[in-house]
Amino acid sequence: MADRKDLPRYTVPSLTRAAGDKVARILQERLNSLTDLHLTLKHVHWNVVGPHFIAVHEMIDPQVDAVRAMTDAVAERIATLGVSPVGTPGALVKARTWDDYHLGRATAIEHLGALDEVYEGVITSHRKAAKDTEGVDDVTNDLLIGHLHDLELFHWFVRAHLESAGGELSTSGATTELGAARKAKQKKATG
Ligand SMILES: [Fe+2]
Repeated sequence: MADRKDLPRYTVPSLTRAAGDKVARILQERLNSLTDLHLTLKHVHWNVVGPHFIAVHEMIDPQVDAVRAMTDAVAERIATLGVSPVGTPGALVKARTWDDYHLGRATAIEHLGALDEVYEGVITSHRKAAKDTEGVDDVTNDLLIGHLHDLELFHWFVRAHLESAGGELSTSGATTELGAARKAKQKKATG
């Protein structure tokens, strides 16, 4: 392979610089996603209203702290791989492939419905990134798998509010945040 000018000047031992570069690119996408997630979670913390306000308001903050710690670990892994992590808001908005969170002030159940969709998207991408780094860089793979333990637990915390005693999710079949919020609200009104 020809030496590319934009490859890192060094990377971690036993990886080629091209492999280090590839892993760092995968991680940059995860950094964007996790930064977006902890900001979105704070937005929910500030905008949730109505019954169950305090339960959701207080449930969110430990998730914000945990996800923010994940961004730090991901960014520092990118630097460790010899690549400059990009953490500025403008770059994130330019690079991201998803829209801003759609809800402003809304009830707990609507935000939880929308958050079910948010976590669905983040976890799906995180699992793909973990798969894509498997066998290429086991340390990065381990880092991402570690995050998934917490992300999937937080997803369950959200989903437990949307689950019936029969184990069915009120957001089942939704494909957008607003659609999920609507379904969660309807189910609450009728169920
Ligand atoms: Fe607060």
